[in-house]
Amino acid sequence: MNKPLRMQPGLSAEQVVYGSELLARQDDEALSYVICPDLFAHGMQRTIVDDVLSAFKRVFLVVDANIGAEKIQSVQKHFSGKATCDSVLHVEGGEQVKNFDEVVRILDWLDRGGFVRRSDVVVLVGGGSVLDLGSFASSIYRRGVDHIRVPTTLLGLVDAGIGVKSAINFNGNKNRIGSYQRPTLSIIDPGLIDTHDVDQIRNGLCEIIKAAIIGCRELFNEVHSNRHELLKSGFYGTAAGISIIRRSIDVLLREIAANPEEQALRRSMDFGHILSPLLEANSEYRMPHGLAVVKEVVFCCRYSVRQGYLTNEQMGRIEALLTVLDIPYEEPLFEDPGFMREAIAQAVRHRQGMLHLPIPRALGIPCFVEQIDDLMERSC
Ligand SMILES: NC(=O)c1ccc[n+]([C@@H]2O[C@H](COP(=O)([O-])OP(=O)(O)OC[C@H]3O[C@@H](n4cnc5c(N)ncnc54)[C@H](O)[C@@H]3O)[C@@H](O)[C@H]2O)c1
Repeated sequence: MNKPLRMQPGLSAEQVVYGSELLARQDDEALSYVICPDLFAHGMQRTIVDDVLSAFKRVFLVVDANIGAEKIQSVQKHFSGKATCDSVLHVEGGEQVKNFDEVVRILDWLDRGGFVRRSDVVVLVGGGSVLDLGSFASSIYRRGVDHIRVPTTLLGLVDAGIGVKSAINFNGNKNRIGSYQRPTLSIIDPGLIDTHDVDQIRNGLCEIIKAAIIGCRELFNEVHSNRHELLKSGFYGTAAGISIIRRSIDVLLREIAANPEEQALRRSMDFGHILSPLLEANSEYRMPHGLAVVKEVVFCCRYSVRQGYLTNEQMGRIEALLTVLDIPYEEPLFEDPGFMREAIAQAVRHRQGMLHLPIPRALGIPCFVEQIDDLMERSC
């Protein structure tokens, strides 16, 4: 089916606890998400999720086995109440799951289960890795079937659960094989994340801080004002937490809506993602993705200060925020000319000879650096 979804404005408070957003991708297509805190733990009388599900006969549920029995049960119970949901596939979550064997396992399960393209839907529940894997499998089964994403990590809520990309790793390269396929819906329930896993929360926060600095000054101010709450259990179910999630999603969707299949190579959401892949690779992927991103973010912000764009006071607030969150941001390799040459060479290779390095022109406003010499000045 994968038909365009049109969400009606003016939903009542009982239907959706906090909003539903619609951003037109093209005239007849839309990206949609709904934020429903505690939808799965407590249920709700009637939500937009029900309206979407009513278009389908059967739900094929793929769940990240690590989210725990209780959450799996509540998710399964929720979907069973809406459509036939007797087919559940458990997948061991984490980066290692993003491989072809797991894709084939999902395809085989769909096939044996008699998945019907126009009336059934795949629902993916898990961290970004399971969402990437399941979205990819859904995008190639019968040339693409409907899928709904239900993220269970903070990074998933604000990034991997939203948008149109899917990927698996291949030949030792991260996200080497993938596709673009719009999810039918993303269901954002902060109640699903494990708030005791502080490292996971930090990982998600790194992407939120990135989006704030490059794309939304108000988001940065909200994050900064709540800096002492951000790692506390339960914060993302509060009004302040939900507002941060919503703004982060909006920043991302604004960019995706304008450039869904990344034809344009200047992308502000690549902030923190141009030089950091080599940091991750050098650490043999032991450095968490979010931390690598933040190190590049700080490097670029300092460059921005030297250009007279960000002020010293703003730079101080950024560093103070990261310090409160105990997120390390110094990276000696960015001072190493050999590392920088290689990182830039790799970035340029994927961008048709250009660097397109996003830096903040002001807090929340991007610009792009192309002059490699300027950037290398401090490293040489
Ligand atoms: N497609 C996109 O647009 C996009 C965007 C950003 C990131 N990603 C991808 O997302 C992946 C990272 O995702 P992630 O940070 O969510 O990590 P992850 O999915 O690898 O999960 C990390 C660990 O947490 C477990 N987990 C997930 N939810 C849990 C919960 N509620 N309780 C307990 N354990 C839980 C997982 O099983 C895994 O062991 C990367 O592969 C990245 O490439 C994709």
